[in-house]
Amino acid sequence: MADYVLAIDQGTTSSRAIIFDKSGSIVSTGQLEHEQIFPKAGWVEHDPKEIWNNTREVIGQALAKADLTRHDIAAVGITNQRETAVVWDKTTGEPVYNAIVWQDTRTQDIVDRLAADGGVERFKAKVGLPLATYFSGTKIVWILENVEGAREKAEAGDLLFGTTDSWVLWNLTGGVEGGVHATDVTNASRTMFMDLETLAWDDEILAAFGVPRSMLPEIKSSSEVYGTAEASSLLRETPIAGILGDQQAATFGQAAFEAGEAKNTYGTGNFLIFNTGTDIVHSKNGLLTTVGYKLGDAPVHYALEGSIAVTGSLIQWLRDNLGLISSAAEVEELAKGVEDNGGAYFVPAFSGLFAPYWRPDARGALVGLTRYVNKGHIARAALEAIAFQTRDVIEAVNADAGVDLTELRVDGGATANDTLLQFQADILGVPVVRPVVAETTALGAAYAAGLAVGFWSGLDELSANWQEDTRWTPSMDEDERARLDRNWKKAVTKTLDWVD
Ligand code: G3P
Repeated sequence: MADYVLAIDQGTTSSRAIIFDKSGSIVSTGQLEHEQIFPKAGWVEHDPKEIWNNTREVIGQALAKADLTRHDIAAVGITNQRETAVVWDKTTGEPVYNAIVWQDTRTQDIVDRLAADGGVERFKAKVGLPLATYFSGTKIVWILENVEGAREKAEAGDLLFGTTDSWVLWNLTGGVEGGVHATDVTNASRTMFMDLETLAWDDEILAAFGVPRSMLPEIKSSSEVYGTAEASSLLRETPIAGILGDQQAATFGQAAFEAGEAKNTYGTGNFLIFNTGTDIVHSKNGLLTTVGYKLGDAPVHYALEGSIAVTGSLIQWLRDNLGLISSAAEVEELAKGVEDNGGAYFVPAFSGLFAPYWRPDARGALVGLTRYVNKGHIARAALEAIAFQTRDVIEAVNADAGVDLTELRVDGGATANDTLLQFQADILGVPVVRPVVAETTALGAAYAAGLAVGFWSGLDELSANWQEDTRWTPSMDEDERARLDRNWKKAVTKTLDWVD
């Protein structure tokens, strides 16, 4: 009897394989980081081959650490950094270009070109997204227009596009030897090409972008058997049975299954997802409308999303670009050495500003500096920036929903940072709660896969697995909260109109 489910989490900075047992507890983990390639300002790439090789390797690591084999694994789930676009030749299995990462802003000209007719909201009613460099669509166009021979090969039907879930699935199920080319509804909802009502690719939008439909994966639900692992894989014959984009997976792993439930994940960026049930809700306050999940033939659940491009990656930037700290964890020590931010505010608009502002012309700013400010204050301002940006998107969620969130479920790497989460509770004025299993992204993908093969019986069993670990309660007075928020919003205005 197979007692475990394995989740592959193909994230922005690393690929991981995590094995879960029936209670949703972690049994073992394999993890490898991949190179972040920055060829020019604003460009961010990954090597798809490195990602696939790392994925294979981390599966081996996780199985070996727990002394398990494929016979112990009931199903495999995949979760992934979303929007990152891979285009490969289906006859050779070779990518035609590096993966263009979700943070990459090189396609602003393509966005402007498409927006010239109808503005950035041109397709929003159908796909829930404004035209922006963030989503996969313009990244595919860039590859077709800039990689020699790509357009011809695509027209001939030889090129495939996928977000990294599709890339991993295609390779894991056999690659050139008949790999399955599919994605799930959540990832498809991040391309700009999927109609939220029909859950199908939209020919009119594809024509406007000039992307051949033959490149696109088949859209499936988030929980069904897509195929089995190929013969040379350590997981051979194991069903691959769940796919969810990482933010939707974290929402699922947080057991936020019903309308009105929400979570916030602290990764390289922050992503707040608010479940709106079976209703498509269009935001009036700068949030995205996206798919939450779809289990087999059951009705789809939609969500509102507040996406923040730079949060954890700001801490990496302090480490890698400034050398202010030698490990990400050190930022908390440094920040704890000071009472407050010393008047400094750091707006990390490195990829422009995402929700709720959507300002591609913004660039980062560190403001409020005096000679009093030291590196502790800067560390503190960086941590506070994560929390302030979260407050901005929660204000938008509250305005769209017409009711205020009463507590925030959180997960992701930075939730190990107590100083950050106390400040988050203080600046929101509501409690912040972290579950025992904070690896909710991988857990959500495992849940989707396990449900498809009957490893778990249903959502009630998953909800019963959710347990509170830590709760941070607000202790800041209202005037101070309002003052800090006022200063933050003033700092945001200093980043706008920076790029002509
Ligand atoms: O939309 C981008 C998001 O899916 C990336 O998440 O956790 O890999 O930074 P993460």
